[in-house]
Amino acid sequence: MNFGFNGNNIKAQQAPNKAQGMWTILEKIVIKGGLPLSGEVLISAAKNAVLPIVAATVLCDEPVILENVPEISDITFALKILRSMGAEIKLLSKNKVMFDTRKITEPRVPYEMAKKMRASSYFLGALLGRFHEAHVALPGGCNLGDRPIDQHLKAFRALGAEEMLDGGEQYVHAERLIGSLVYFDVVTVGATINAMLAAVKADGLTVLEHCAKEPHIVDVANFLNKMGADIIGAGTDTIKIKGVKYLKGIEYSVIPDQIEAGTFMVASAITGGDIIVRNVIPKHLESITQTLRKIGVTVEEFDDSVRVYVESPLKGIKLKTLPHPGFPTDMQPQVSTLLTLAQGSSVVTEEVFDNRFAYAKELRRMGADITVSGKAVMIEGVEKLKGAPVDASDLRAGAALVIAGLAADGVTEIGNIHYIKRGYENIVEKFKGLGADIKYGQYPDYPDCEIKREA
Ligand code: UD1
Repeated sequence: MNFGFNGNNIKAQQAPNKAQGMWTILEKIVIKGGLPLSGEVLISAAKNAVLPIVAATVLCDEPVILENVPEISDITFALKILRSMGAEIKLLSKNKVMFDTRKITEPRVPYEMAKKMRASSYFLGALLGRFHEAHVALPGGCNLGDRPIDQHLKAFRALGAEEMLDGGEQYVHAERLIGSLVYFDVVTVGATINAMLAAVKADGLTVLEHCAKEPHIVDVANFLNKMGADIIGAGTDTIKIKGVKYLKGIEYSVIPDQIEAGTFMVASAITGGDIIVRNVIPKHLESITQTLRKIGVTVEEFDDSVRVYVESPLKGIKLKTLPHPGFPTDMQPQVSTLLTLAQGSSVVTEEVFDNRFAYAKELRRMGADITVSGKAVMIEGVEKLKGAPVDASDLRAGAALVIAGLAADGVTEIGNIHYIKRGYENIVEKFKGLGADIKYGQYPDYPDCEIKREA
């Protein structure tokens, strides 16, 4: 594990430079499906908590240590962004990373870095909070439809910042940040967190209303509070932040990833397996657990683990994604995949993003009866899925295809797995540990072959 400290996990996929541009060996995940999963799996720290927490280290006036940083490519990019700005980052031991952001001189995230992931927008709030200035290229990330940042900017403006777009870069600056009332027009995780980051050192009281309530929002607030911030109400509609002058160095352990846990829970169900998912907070999994139970999956809850298995036939349901505590949009592709093998009809409606069904056409290649209709997918359960070559279109779509491959007859080859690596630590190794026949492969199936793609 190195998070790109010597560049290995970036370069591992790349063959030498040829002519103009980079040549890349494209990796895939190859699964021989049909084996029921069994055993235990350990869940990593939550990507969507670690990313804003890594950005929040910018606000700390002393070095900070994070104890359980997952090795996923989004984190590698976040660390690269910090180092590019002058931060010192040290890998202390496996997954334990020290951040000293005191030497940051340049509050700027260039396009080459920001385009890699949506969470680069968290540097807007963090840099604004510390330097009263930030230049961050408009972020990339998974294509889930239009993903504006108008609510982030609304919060910054309320705190006294001016903003402008210049050459694709979002520039925000303020003479002084002054606590204020912010009412979000939509429930947004990103803007809620970004507003907290910008307000934590502002003068006076900031009140955020109509906030998102996801567990990672609470975790970011806990992290900031442990450093000395004064934030109450995270996890409710209203968050109050009294600005402080100084944030001290701490050691912090991030919450487990509810979506990774949910992904393994669905994988157990779809393969007719029986697994224990360890290092979870069952309360964070409530809507996933309840949904799986409705489908007919047995979920037993313990203090920090869940056991998931199937005793009776799975049945179709109607499901809607919603902000927390509703069913998470990040589990929609995985559960829809499970429903392709449940008896009867299902309708899954996506209420958070405009465009989150790109995986449906790939599942159809595997024999699923799934059609997109406006904001919903209509699913008729089939007896079996059949292995096929498919491509991940985004992170969770990729996870859904892994799940489909584990259940399908024959071999499934999943391409575009860089999406999956953005958010799942050691996914192949973890499924192997549960008895799956799964491995990394290369395109095409002879080892020396290189395929050109844009760098
Ligand atoms: C985060 C998560 C993502 C998850 C999503 C919803 C990270 C890095 N990503 O994304 O995995 O799927 O929450 O739980 O944590 N919106 C606006 N204006 C804004 C901001 C958002 O209209 O300024 C809209 C979005 O287009 C979307 C909805 O609000 O329709 C929710 O988005 P948001 O909660 O902000 O998602 P992200 O923070 O991008």
